[in-house]
This record gives sequence, structure tokens and C-alpha cells, in this order.
Amino acid sequence: MHIYKTVRGLQNRLDQLKKEGKTIGFVPTMGALHQGHMSLVNSANEKADITVVSIFVNPTQFNEKSDLDKYPRTLEKDAALLKSNHCDIIFAPSETQIYPKDGLPKVGLDITHLIQSMEGPNRPGHFEGVVQVVHRLLSIVGPDYLFMGQKDFQQFTIIGHMLKKLKLKTKLIVCEIIREKDGLAMSSRNVRLTPAIRKKCSLLYETLTWCKANLNKYSIKTLEKKALEKLSQKPFKTEYYKIVDGYDLMPISDISNHKYIVACTAVWAGKVRLIDNMILKNVSSNKK
Ligand code: PAF
Repeated sequence: MHIYKTVRGLQNRLDQLKKEGKTIGFVPTMGALHQGHMSLVNSANEKADITVVSIFVNPTQFNEKSDLDKYPRTLEKDAALLKSNHCDIIFAPSETQIYPKDGLPKVGLDITHLIQSMEGPNRPGHFEGVVQVVHRLLSIVGPDYLFMGQKDFQQFTIIGHMLKKLKLKTKLIVCEIIREKDGLAMSSRNVRLTPAIRKKCSLLYETLTWCKANLNKYSIKTLEKKALEKLSQKPFKTEYYKIVDGYDLMPISDISNHKYIVACTAVWAGKVRLIDNMILKNVSSNKK
């Protein structure tokens, strides 16, 4: 495994590998890696000849400077974990490698319709930052496959939209959510939960599971209302609990008109913001 810190160094190596006919699987991350990320790495190892993982805490996607400052930076530990999971290449660039001083061309992509709800209004500018950095990383790495987690449902939907609209050759592969034993979705933020709050965090998974089990019993409005009631326990504060169409992320009123339905939530657990989701219905053939 090799760590590259510059675009030129990485691209020289990737050009060589591509000339040898190797396929490239790419996992973009912001570090603080856990088993959820490793499942992306394992999928990349299975699907592609070479697995590239980027570690870059992208400043343009944070709306709060304090969140950016608090974001854990654990390169050495991350590198050791990636090595033991057979990652081939780490790309850990500085900010100026990603955002050169003379600027980058704007990504001409309209995502307005995909950021109307859920994370969009709660995190202004966040997805524009994600699109900007993923577009830049893809232009540097030029991978055959891009691996992203289902946990960030809105994120992977927006990136899928970008790949399609900009006709990029990379294929998106979405990997399922990896959970702790009690159901809490793995996240780099979980380490910031206090032990007392952590013990109660299975509530999100339990609520989503309840919702799935009762999809045919209640209306969407009632399901959302009951889910919000379940989540309104101290120390939790729910930002949203939405049941939406999994393709366009629009609110739905009737399950029979939709093939692909997902429940998404964001909850403050003390000072830590957790997001989670669950696919409630999927009778489509081409999307998980
Ligand atoms: O999901 C993340 O960790 C980030 O949003 C990503 C995709 C690496 C872009 O910075």
C-alpha cells in the first residue's frame, strides 16, 4: 500500500496501472475510518483490480466551522486499518492539491430538486460542497467504479445524478449500511457520543424498523407522526423523519404509486447529529 499526497504522484501511478489494463475502484472518505468504510473497501477489492481510498476532510461541505474543527483526523490509524483491509493506494492530499489557488472550473450541475428536503435545508451549501469535491476527486482518480454508503442516502442520490447528467464514465456502487450490534449505524461521529447517550442510540434503528414493519398498516402521514413521537425522548431531538421516494427524494402520500421508498432521519443525540435511513419498499430491479 502506498500513500500519495500529491495529484501528480497519484496520477503517475494510476496512469501506469491503467496502461496495464487494471480497473480502479475508488472510495472517497474524510478519514476517521470504521468498519462501515471497510465494507466499501472490501466491495472495491472484490469488484476492481486496484482500490484507491481518498482521505480528505473537505472544508467546503461543512456549514459550521466548529464541526470542521472538531472532525477527527486520524491518518496513521486510518492507514493501518486500510493496510490490513488490503487497500492498494491512499490519496491524502492537502487542501491546495484539491483546491488550487488559481481555482477550478465550476461543476455545472443543478441539484436544486434533490436538496429541497432532509439534509438540504438543514445544511445549506453542504451538498454543493460534496458535489464539488467528489467531482474534483473523480477528475483526479478517473475510476471505473465509485463506492458510496447507503447511510448517506441523499448524498449518493445526488452523486448518482451528477454521474448521469455529466455523462461521467464511472459507475456508482452503493453499499448497505453497516450497523453496531444494537443497530446504530456506524459513523465517524459515534465516537463523540457520551456513554450514557450511546446506550440509548438503538432508538433510531428501532424506529426505522418499526416503520418498515408497519408500512402497510398506516398512512405515510401517520407513520411519520408516530415515528417522530417515538424519537421524541430525552436526550434526542429530531430534525426530520421523512418517508420519500428513493429516486427523486420527493415526499410521498401513497405507497402504491412508488416502487422505491425510503425513510430518512436526522436526530441530535446530545451534541452529536446522527443520520440514518431504511429502505421500506423496493420493487425496482436496478437500485438497491
Ligand atoms: O461521505 C463523506 O465522507 C464525504 O461527504 C465525501 C463523499 C468523502 C466527500 O467529502
